[in-house]
Amino acid sequence: MCGIVAYIGCEKAGPVLFDTLKRLEYRGYDSAGVAIKSNEEIEVIKSAGKIADLEKIYVSLGSPGETIGIGHTRWATHGRPSDSNAHPFISGQIAIVHNGIIENYLDLRELLTEMGFVFSSETDSEVLAHLINLYYKEDLSEAVARALAQVEGSYAVAVLAAGSPYLVCARKDSPLVLGVGDGATYVASDVPALLPYTRNVVRMKDGEIARLYRDRIDIFDLEGRPQSHQVETIEWDMDAAEKGGYTHFMLKEIHEQPRAIRETFSGRISEIEGDVRLSLGLSESEIRSLERVTIIACGTSYHAGLLAKYLFVRAAGLPVEVEMASEFQHLQVRPRTLILGITQSGETADTLLALKKARTCGVRSLAITNVVGSTVTELVDGTIYTRCGPEIGVAATKTFTGQLIALILLAIRLGRARGHLTPDQARKMIVELTRLPGLVQRVLEKREEIRKIAEDYSGAECYFFIGRDFLYPIALEGALKMKEIAYIPSEGYAGGELKHGPLALITEETPVVALATCGKKIQSNIKEVKARGADVVALATEGDPDIGKVANVVIELPETRPVFSAVLCSVVVQLLSYYTADKLGLPIDKPRNLAKCVTVE
Ligand code: M6R
Repeated sequence: MCGIVAYIGCEKAGPVLFDTLKRLEYRGYDSAGVAIKSNEEIEVIKSAGKIADLEKIYVSLGSPGETIGIGHTRWATHGRPSDSNAHPFISGQIAIVHNGIIENYLDLRELLTEMGFVFSSETDSEVLAHLINLYYKEDLSEAVARALAQVEGSYAVAVLAAGSPYLVCARKDSPLVLGVGDGATYVASDVPALLPYTRNVVRMKDGEIARLYRDRIDIFDLEGRPQSHQVETIEWDMDAAEKGGYTHFMLKEIHEQPRAIRETFSGRISEIEGDVRLSLGLSESEIRSLERVTIIACGTSYHAGLLAKYLFVRAAGLPVEVEMASEFQHLQVRPRTLILGITQSGETADTLLALKKARTCGVRSLAITNVVGSTVTELVDGTIYTRCGPEIGVAATKTFTGQLIALILLAIRLGRARGHLTPDQARKMIVELTRLPGLVQRVLEKREEIRKIAEDYSGAECYFFIGRDFLYPIALEGALKMKEIAYIPSEGYAGGELKHGPLALITEETPVVALATCGKKIQSNIKEVKARGADVVALATEGDPDIGKVANVVIELPETRPVFSAVLCSVVVQLLSYYTADKLGLPIDKPRNLAKCVTVE
C-alpha cells in the first residue's frame, strides 16, 4: 500500500505536500517523493527513507517550486525500496504518483521500450508515466484516460504536467479522496491527511477521472462524460486523527474503545422490542431461508470472524465457516449461504477479490467495515459500519472490538428474524451490551497492572495464548498482536489442543496467557503448562475462587456474559502487547514490514 497526495492552490506546494504525506505515512514508509511545478518545468525530489528526511533535502535545496504538486509515500511491492523506485515518475513533461498494481505492466513496458521510452525503475507504476506522455498533446485528462484504458489492475493516480493549468487524478480499486478548500484543491489517499486544510471532501468512485483547478473540480468517466459529485462534510475532530496526547496511536486507539463500542451499537438496539435495527439489504424471508454463513476476512478481521462461529450457531441457529480471504479462491460456495466480508479498511485486496468471486455465485452478501464508502461496500448487498473513527496504528485494536460488536448485533438481528431468539433472550443480550463500554473502561483502568506484567515478561523467548470457546479467537488475536508489534514469536491455541504437540515447546522461558473467564476447563490446561515450568498469566472473572491456586499472576476482569468477556480479554491482550513493545523500544505504530492496509494479493 502507498499514499498519494496532490495540491493546487495559492500557497507553495512543498510544505502542504510534506504535511499531508506525513499524515499518510501509516500507508507506507519505505520511500517518498514529490514533484512540484517550477518555471514551467517539473522539479522532482525523491529518496528511499522517511518523509522527514526527504523534507530536509527539499529545504536544503531552497524549498523549490510553485503552487502545484504531487507527492507519494511508498510501501514496496514491485521493486525494492530505493531512490530510483520511489515515486514520482517522470516522462517528458509528465510526472505521476500511483497507488495500486498495474498487472499488465510487463507487456506495457516491453511495448514502450520498443517505442524508445527509457525506464529508470523496476516498478510497475512507471509505465503509466510513459503511457500518459505518449498520449499527451494538449489535454492532460484525455491523455490520462487513454493511458488508463490500456491498464489492467488497480490504481489511484495523480498526474502533473508542466504545461497544464490543472492536475488530474483517477481511481480504480484504490481509495482516493479530493479536498475542496478555499482557493485550493487537494488529493489524498485518505481523509485524515486533509483535515488540517479542509473538512469538505469528495470521495472519488471507481472509473472516475478528475480535473483539479484551484477553485473547482470537474469529474468525468473514462469516456469523458461529465459525472456529478457530492461534497461531504467530515464531522470528526482533528483530535480524532491525531495522537491526542498518547505516546502512540495504538495506545490512543485502545483507549477509544468504550466510545467506539458505544457508537457502534448506538441507535441500533431496542431494549423494549428486544431487537436490533440493522438494514441488511436482505428480505426477512431470505434471512429465514439461510442455511449457513461463510465469513471471509484476513488477519485480525479473520479472528473477529471466528468469534461469530461460536456465536451465530447459538444465537441464530446458523453454522458458520470462516475462511481466510486468500484461500477462498480455492473453495466453493453452496446455495443459501450468506457471505460476510469483514475488513476494517474495506480495501484489503484478498478480501475484495474473494467477495468478487462470491458475487458470481448468486448468493447474498454483507460487509462489516469501518470505512464509509470503501470499495468493499460496492461489492455487497448490505454493509454494517463499525463506527470507530479512523485507526492509524497498523495494529488493529478498536476496529477489532468494533467488529465484535457488529457481529453481536448481527447475531441478534438474525436470531430474532429466524425465531431462534425470543425478545426476552435478545433483551438480555442488549442490556449486557449497553453495560460493555463501562466494563471496558474498568479494564483500561488496569493499565498499570498490565504494564508491569508486560515489562516483567518482555524478555520472553516465546509467548503462548490459550483460550476456549469465545476466547479461542482472542487467544489467536493476542498472539498476532504480540508478533506484530513486539516481534516476539507467539502462538495462540485452543486450550485443549496444546497437548497435541505444542506442549513440547513449553519451558520456563515461555509465559502462557490463559484466557480463563469462560468456564473451568481451561484450568486443567493451565496445570499442564505449569507442570512444564511455564509461568501463567490468567485473565479471570473477579472473585474466581480457584484461579489464584493455579496461575502465577491473575488479572481480574468484571463479570459479564461469555461473549462480552471476549471483548474485555481483547483489551487486555492489546495492552499486554503494547506495553511489551514499548518496553522493547519498538516502532509500535509502524511495525517493520507491515502496512495498515494491504492492497496487494
Ligand atoms: O483492513 P482489514 O481488516 O481487511 O485488514 C486485514 C489485516 O490486514 C489486518 O487485520 C492485520 O492483520 C492487522 N495489522 C492486525 O493488527
